[in-house]
Amino acid sequence: MTHASSSRTATTGSRAAVPILDLSRQYAQIRQQVLAAVERVCASQHFILGEEVAALEREIAAFVGTSAAVGCASGTDALWLALLAIGVQPGDSVITTAFSFFASASAIVRAGARPVLLDIDPHTLNLDPAQVEAHLRQGSEAGKSTRLRALLPVHLYGQCAEMDAFERLAREFQLAIVEDAAQAIGASWRDRRAGAIGAAAAFSFYPTKNLSAYGEAGLVTTNNPEFAAHMRCLRTHGSPRRYLHEELGWNCRLDAIQAAVLRVKLPYLEKWNQQRRELAARYDRLLTQSGLVSGSVNDPVRPVGISAHAHHVYHQYVVRAQRRDDLWQFLAGRNIGTEVYYPIPTHLQPVFAYLGYREGDLPESERAAREVLALPMFPELMDHEQQWVVESIAEFYS
Ligand SMILES: Cc1ncc(COP(=O)(O)O)c(C=O)c1O
Repeated sequence: MTHASSSRTATTGSRAAVPILDLSRQYAQIRQQVLAAVERVCASQHFILGEEVAALEREIAAFVGTSAAVGCASGTDALWLALLAIGVQPGDSVITTAFSFFASASAIVRAGARPVLLDIDPHTLNLDPAQVEAHLRQGSEAGKSTRLRALLPVHLYGQCAEMDAFERLAREFQLAIVEDAAQAIGASWRDRRAGAIGAAAAFSFYPTKNLSAYGEAGLVTTNNPEFAAHMRCLRTHGSPRRYLHEELGWNCRLDAIQAAVLRVKLPYLEKWNQQRRELAARYDRLLTQSGLVSGSVNDPVRPVGISAHAHHVYHQYVVRAQRRDDLWQFLAGRNIGTEVYYPIPTHLQPVFAYLGYREGDLPESERAAREVLALPMFPELMDHEQQWVVESIAEFYS
């Protein structure tokens, strides 16, 4: 990725690098348990699905508060399974946000449907219910060749989308909700956990996630036993029993080593999420104390807003920054890891040119793509590292 050249030169001094994420600090805490879990799987020589995966499914369903969970090979597969389970088929369309990881929309296409990409709320950067409502009330789908089937809100950065409004709209317009909870395990909306709100929800356990595997892994939660049974079938080539294929599924099974590692980590998740929340509150305080954040729209950096009913688990701590690319490069010069999630909104991705969106169509998503910067965030991040990140940001704008 290229960055615009900075007008300021970064000086590293004697300060150590601050990684955006350092998983080795987590591994140091749980190494013995992880190695024992991997050994258990190796001793069993049972590598795909099996009791280890079934146990993880039970434990995550209990954690999220659903009656069922179905493990699979990635968060992308989880979205695809969830969409098929709720009945999405060719000729359907599904509403989602233009400001998310690519898979939120590509899974809709993979399920045979057409993504309808709508804009975000500039406060939270989550899908804006007002945009969805306007789209539905205009009857924008009338006369189109597709039938609107579902809403797919994304709980971006670990904060639930505005689920009251989406549930109301889903009821009124007879749409199913599939939550993209890939970034939000442990988050909640009012008294319900992410993953227990929609008809089905997709989680990713990609290594950077709050609950992460040692490879690729994903899972769907649902309260509908028929959906769960259908997804178990779909993840093994649409096969209800060996060598009988009633529909076209795919191979997207979860492997037992990933499940065993996830089972070691799950009991720590609440504590790790709480540590992320404390670090986020500390970033807020440090940014305010340094004079960077005062609540004005003219502040050089502005943390992404929090929704009143959302319990945020800070998969990412993200600010909107003036001269974002210059700041990014300045911090990189000090070996401070930051990242842009996401630099190109989905409606402007070349592969989706056929959907017909143009630059300017979804201005809040486009602005967010120019302004967002994720700062280092993981439970083991140290106070002095956070301090150095904020001091460096302050120095850039001084
Ligand atoms: C919002 C969102 N949806 C879907 C996915 C896809 O998950 P995976 O990478 O496990 O396929 C991700 C992962 O990065 C994500 O952040």
